Amino acid sequence: MIINHKKILGIAFLMMFTLLLGCSKNGSNPPPEPDTVLGTPFASNASNITNTSFNVNWVILPEAESYLIDVSTSNSFSTFVTGYNTLEKSGSTVEVTGLSPGLTYYYRVRAKKGAEISNNSNVITVTTTGVQAEDPTFLKVKANALENPFYVGVAVKSNQLTEGSSYDTVLKNEFSSITAEYEMKMNPISTGSGTYNWSAADKIVQYGNDNGINVHGHALVWHNAVPDWLSNFSGTDSEFALEVKKYITDVVTRYAGKIQSWDVVNEAVDDNGTMRNTIFLQKMGANYIKDCYQWARDAANAAGDTNLILFYNDYATSTNIPKQDKVFSIVDDLMTSNLIDGVGFQMHNTYLSPTKEQIETDINRAVVLGLKVHVSELDIQVNQNNDITHLTEERNLAQKDKYKEIVTIYNALPKANKYALTVWGFKDNESWIPFSTDLNHPGDDWPLLYNNKFEIKSAHTGFLEGLD
Ligand code: G3I
Repeated sequence: MIINHKKILGIAFLMMFTLLLGCSKNGSNPPPEPDTVLGTPFASNASNITNTSFNVNWVILPEAESYLIDVSTSNSFSTFVTGYNTLEKSGSTVEVTGLSPGLTYYYRVRAKKGAEISNNSNVITVTTTGVQAEDPTFLKVKANALENPFYVGVAVKSNQLTEGSSYDTVLKNEFSSITAEYEMKMNPISTGSGTYNWSAADKIVQYGNDNGINVHGHALVWHNAVPDWLSNFSGTDSEFALEVKKYITDVVTRYAGKIQSWDVVNEAVDDNGTMRNTIFLQKMGANYIKDCYQWARDAANAAGDTNLILFYNDYATSTNIPKQDKVFSIVDDLMTSNLIDGVGFQMHNTYLSPTKEQIETDINRAVVLGLKVHVSELDIQVNQNNDITHLTEERNLAQKDKYKEIVTIYNALPKANKYALTVWGFKDNESWIPFSTDLNHPGDDWPLLYNNKFEIKSAHTGFLEGLD
């Protein structure tokens, strides 16, 4: 076969010329690639996970020059692990170190090209190995270390119980019991005769069960939580009573073995020391309280939950002696039939009242009866007379002292009487107090342990000191 060298050279020259033409058609630099849109990187699973570190990984984007890595203990990235807030790295992996054992972390990645920064990648969740060291400045950690421990509780709303939320983190760190602030009452659950909306209550109970956190049921029967259909019930009084019995039976049965205690009746005594004239008293008669406890006890026993703790719950009994007397006459009556196991003292207090002596006198009436004591809704107002417009240092410290005082009182209780001390909410700006039409509180207030930024207040320190 004769090889035509000249032809090959001609073809090669033509190819080279074409190539050069493309590169230098107009004598200038090669035409720029069309600007590549900077894509959003894909974060892949963590690797090399230890008790204090792991590797963040992502898929390289050819157009990217570098990557920005965020690592947080909250999947809302409201806070960042030190050193990992927009950490710039090239390549496709970076080791994150200095972490805590047994803690859940979240990471995300952005791509960077010049001044351009992409959107956030998907979020990866990773939990370091080992067991989280229990920080003694966490309320439940210190309470659990006591010779006679007790639950440290908090009132919750189901929408706070999202994995990785700041509430979730604080709850798991600081609290060993939860009470539904309103979603386990009759009006959110009971939609009609024998019909129910269990969703929020189930979420709260499931969260407690999944995380080893005690659940206190609040409240089966309360005059401020009667669903409209029952308020407007057109049947006879005995049919009304059957509806209440059915409700109590169905709710206690559903959560049997899942929650440890119930406020069966809440606030049945009026501030004048007589029975509150509620729809229950009107339609079921003076024995309604005993009936409700009997139905709750029967339902629990029928479900095999013979350890369910039945509480009576009320407020202001430390300062209102006629009310205190009436409450304990009800308690005495329930005790004769073994239908009560504990008394809930709500303790919606102020930085001035009740006094230490008043609280001790009140609570000791349950102690001498051998009943469990639940400080069930603790908050401490500092602006009940609306004479300040922000939490002054003076009131901040006075509040700290009152938290320390009541925790000290509770901590001194005999082991047999201890159950839980529950604060009524997390952050000051979520408290019921400034917005309650019942309380008619005149202005703003800062009654809880955490401020609006979820930072601990001196009140939290006072609580801890009460656990000494
Ligand atoms: O969150 C929902 C909102 O989505 C909805 O749009 C809105 C209108 O229906 O309702 C909002 O829920 C409200 C909830 O507070 C928010 O926290 C409920 O309507 C409202 O009834 C509920 O009030 C609760 C109140 O009991 C009545 O159940 C308060 O949070 C709660 O702090 C208060 O707690 C009581 C105790 O159970 C008994 N002791 C007194 C204490 C203070 O009143």
